Amino acid sequence: MSDPAAIECEDVVRVYEGGLVEALRGVSFSIPARSSAAIVGPSGSGKSTLLHLIGALDRPTSGRVSILGEDLEKIRDLDTLRGRTIGFVFQLHHLIPNLPLWENVTLPALPLGIPRAERKRKACDLLERVGLAARVNFLPVKCSGGERQRAAVARALINDPKILLADEPTGSVDSETGRQILELFETFAKERDMTRVIITHNEAIAAQADMTLRIVDGRLAEPKAVEA
Ligand SMILES: Nc1ncnc2c1ncn2[C@@H]1O[C@H](COP(=O)(O)OP(=O)(O)OP(=O)(O)O)[C@@H](O)[C@H]1O
Ligand SMILES: [Mg+2]
Repeated sequence: MSDPAAIECEDVVRVYEGGLVEALRGVSFSIPARSSAAIVGPSGSGKSTLLHLIGALDRPTSGRVSILGEDLEKIRDLDTLRGRTIGFVFQLHHLIPNLPLWENVTLPALPLGIPRAERKRKACDLLERVGLAARVNFLPVKCSGGERQRAAVARALINDPKILLADEPTGSVDSETGRQILELFETFAKERDMTRVIITHNEAIAAQADMTLRIVDGRLAEPKAVEA
């Protein structure tokens, strides 16, 4: 039997403010395991709303979201599922200012009850992989923007997620650093059989993904016809 899709949405609707804002108006798609998808679309079209839903950070007003074949509606404890399955990278790194990089990287592992020494070793290994071996004990304020974003990538990977979700991960770094971040995603994805979904305003980045989900006004636009 073939693997279930990594992410499946069926007629997903998300309405905010007691019905005043229809952020998503019926979105259906499926992202195969181990593939990459780009979410593109104008500002306010619903991209982050969609990422929050497929990241189990939020629940749809109606419709169905499934992660690795599990219908999220049937799961009460989304925190545990999210912690074990999904890694997040946001436009801003959201590192805790008074913790050194290695401790920031371990934060998503805290609820899993892994001993501190093991967490530290894993965090340091990951920081080394993203080129920050010399920075493991630095506070975020002592790091450059690109270094902080690479630390955020290490943090996203600490629990060996099967799905990596990123909301404009290259939006606040220069283009060379952005290229490095995306290269890290691809390298880790191949090693770990990871599905990745990236929101981007950059069409060149989107073009590198296996599939593009174009959101316009809360709906999925028809995929562009592929030239034969
Ligand atoms: N928590 C919320 N409460 C109320 N309205 C919201 C909330 N979050 C988003 N919205 C609204 O839902 C719509 C979609 O927002 P969303 O953040 O998903 O857009 P986006 O495509 O990510 O935009 P951008 O490219 O600017 O990040 C917008 O009209 C926004 O104002
Ligand atoms: Mg957004």
